[in-house]
Amino acid sequence: MKIIIALAYLLSSILFILGLKNLSSPKTARRGNRFAMSGMLIAIIVTLTKNEILDFTFIIIGLIIGSAIGVIIARKVQMTAMPQMVALFNGLGGGASAFVALAEYYRLTGELKIHIIISMVISLFIGAVTLTGSLVAFSKLQGVIKSTPVVFKAQHFLNTLIFILFLTAGIIVIINPANSTFLLAILAIALALGILIVIPIGGADMPVVICLLNSCSGLAAAATGFVLSNNILIICGALVGASGLILTRIMCKAMNRSLANIIFGAVGTISGDIDKKEKRKVIKYTEEDAAMILESAQSVIIIPGYGLAVAQAQFALHELVKTLISKDINVRYAIHPVAGRMPGHMNVLLAEANVSYDLLFDLGDINDDFQNTDVALVIGANDVINPAARTNKNSPLYGMPILNADKAKTVVVCKRSLSPGFSGVDNELFYYKKTMMVFGDAKDSINKLIKILKA
Ligand code: TAP
Repeated sequence: MKIIIALAYLLSSILFILGLKNLSSPKTARRGNRFAMSGMLIAIIVTLTKNEILDFTFIIIGLIIGSAIGVIIARKVQMTAMPQMVALFNGLGGGASAFVALAEYYRLTGELKIHIIISMVISLFIGAVTLTGSLVAFSKLQGVIKSTPVVFKAQHFLNTLIFILFLTAGIIVIINPANSTFLLAILAIALALGILIVIPIGGADMPVVICLLNSCSGLAAAATGFVLSNNILIICGALVGASGLILTRIMCKAMNRSLANIIFGAVGTISGDIDKKEKRKVIKYTEEDAAMILESAQSVIIIPGYGLAVAQAQFALHELVKTLISKDINVRYAIHPVAGRMPGHMNVLLAEANVSYDLLFDLGDINDDFQNTDVALVIGANDVINPAARTNKNSPLYGMPILNADKAKTVVVCKRSLSPGFSGVDNELFYYKKTMMVFGDAKDSINKLIKILKA
């Protein structure tokens, strides 16, 4: 029996790896999901057949409730709310690992080997930090709390002190595993630290935080795998931890930030707002004006952003692009790595509308072309084209590579107002002479553009 279980776990590990491999490209992502789902199904069935389970009642109740919640969420959640959903799932994953480790502590009291108690401390700490950190990230993304950084005096000092307290409590528990008070203290410390680490991180840096928390949920699961001596949990947790770390690195690179700078930098203490006293004026243009500019252009680069997802305008945008291409205009999409609210958000959105991958260009591949482009058409994007990231050292966006929309001959921006993006920073590009602001819901504006261009 043991050998069959080991082989089945090996099979599900292979399926997880294949899943990850395929998820790395939008073309194969669906297949990747299927591999990973099959791997998870095998892992669950095999785990349930292990003879250590004496009573299935609670497992069945949990399965029914969990599956029902999962199905409802998967059907109801809007595409735009997916990032906060991911943040919540990360948190629940971390919390589950922490509490399983804690339950195991009370079950095994008195017979804890050193590697088990160390794993318990690690799982409890990382899992609880992930739980509250993710809840704060969820609240910022959901708009329950402001996405701007919450900073106060001696914040770093407090965090360092709390971390030292954790280390002390951890060492005491490892030396004397019977000391449950200190184990509970670790739980309380970690829950507080999760909140304190994430609240000072500004909206613009959220992509990195989400990836890091994702990785932490995997590490917590791997540690719990050691507690339970469950190989598949160790492998699965390690895979999530490692892939999350790789994604964190990619996001840091995309934002030109070091991880230390994001976590310890108290980012965003300084405002990047445009001087309100200046009372700069912005000229409102109509869809007719924009259509005229587009029609006379030879080249157009489209910059999709979060507003495209909010407006669900991807299908209309695809239609607009087809109309422009039919008029012999060279049209391409420029995809910023952190556009939207989750990694690959724009790729997923545009894939939904069957946009050809050949039209999508990453920042590095297209940024030099803006200067030779007639129109940069911005649809619901803001932070990813904010020139303050290049020039304003006081801006929380400073240093993040942006799409060079401002280098195009004309910039057409479709959004509802002059409101800032997720970082909460105003965008001076909207006030440039070459910029045409077309105010309105992205889908409405695009539909009007299509109508005018087809007339
Ligand atoms: P944002 O800077 O957030 O700007 C989106 C803009 O869309 C807003 O200014 C909003 O302006 C507009 N908008 C909203 N609804 C609209 C609608 N129905 N029609 C037209 N426009 C609409 O978006 P971005 O440029 O994609 O940048 C992403 C930001 O999110 C970055 O700061 C990034 O760091 C952060 N972030 C990214 C991720 C990942 S991994 N991608 C995760 C978390 C956070 P109006 O209200 O005026 O319309």
